[in-house]
Amino acid sequence: MTRVRLPPERVLELQKHHAERLRHCEPWSAATPWRQELNFQAETYSVLELWAGVVASDAAVDALEPGQFVDSPARRFRYCVRLHRRGQALLTWWGSQVGTVVFDGDVIIPALYQARDPDTPGTGYWNETPWMSLTPGEFITLRPGTRMAKGKVVIAGLGLGHQLIEVSKRLQVKRIVLVELDRELVEWILPVIRPHVRKPLEVVIGDAYEEIPKLHADVALIDIFPGYGDGFRRVAELAAASPHIKRFWGWGTSEMTGLAQR
Ligand SMILES: C[S@@+](CC[C@H](N)C(=O)[O-])C[C@H]1O[C@@H](n2cnc3c(N)ncnc32)[C@H](O)[C@@H]1O
Repeated sequence: MTRVRLPPERVLELQKHHAERLRHCEPWSAATPWRQELNFQAETYSVLELWAGVVASDAAVDALEPGQFVDSPARRFRYCVRLHRRGQALLTWWGSQVGTVVFDGDVIIPALYQARDPDTPGTGYWNETPWMSLTPGEFITLRPGTRMAKGKVVIAGLGLGHQLIEVSKRLQVKRIVLVELDRELVEWILPVIRPHVRKPLEVVIGDAYEEIPKLHADVALIDIFPGYGDGFRRVAELAAASPHIKRFWGWGTSEMTGLAQR
């Protein structure tokens, strides 16, 4: 790794800017528009904890102690609560732009990890990056899809059920069909999420690419991709293969086409 040594005056400038951000934090709101620098008051950041009493930790996911996680029965998924420290930057994205979020105090961030496929690079038991974590970046980038939801909605990708819950709160939404690849994830976590879902829910366990083309719906929201914007082409192909679904959205796609509101 090449280290870049910054001149001392530039380091001082960056430290001053960071301190300034921490002095000008606004209350968190799920409606906050995306900006390259977002600064939130920690005490206003409240997130849904699916399992009460899981102790938050900033240790690596592989190093968590009992009491700091809940694992699925066959140990393919791990729910834990990340302790995110004051002033540490979290990444956000918007189309091709990258930004950061800081909080003026420690916050907790529930997260869902999947066991690493032994054929993929890495050493730990768990994948380093979670499938889902309740960060402002996730909330803000899932929001354009949630706002499109009406009538009968297909949601692909369960994760922590955040989008499922948010979609179910909308008056315009009548029914939801969840399509999730992993049976173990559904059987373990959906009973905990279900009480927060306010609309009739049908669950299809299977590959979204095979199952969605068979469905009829007003809108399909697709969030099955590990990286932001990864699914641009795949969502377009899925839409073309699904004649009975009126509108499609994929995580990151609306921002990339400039169709999303901030
Ligand atoms: C990023 S998470 C979804 C997060 C979710 N939007 C939320 O709000 O919590 C991706 C989910 O998609 C599922 N998944 C991955 N590939 C899939 C596929 N081909 N078909 C259906 N589900 C898939 C994963 O098992 C995981 O639950």
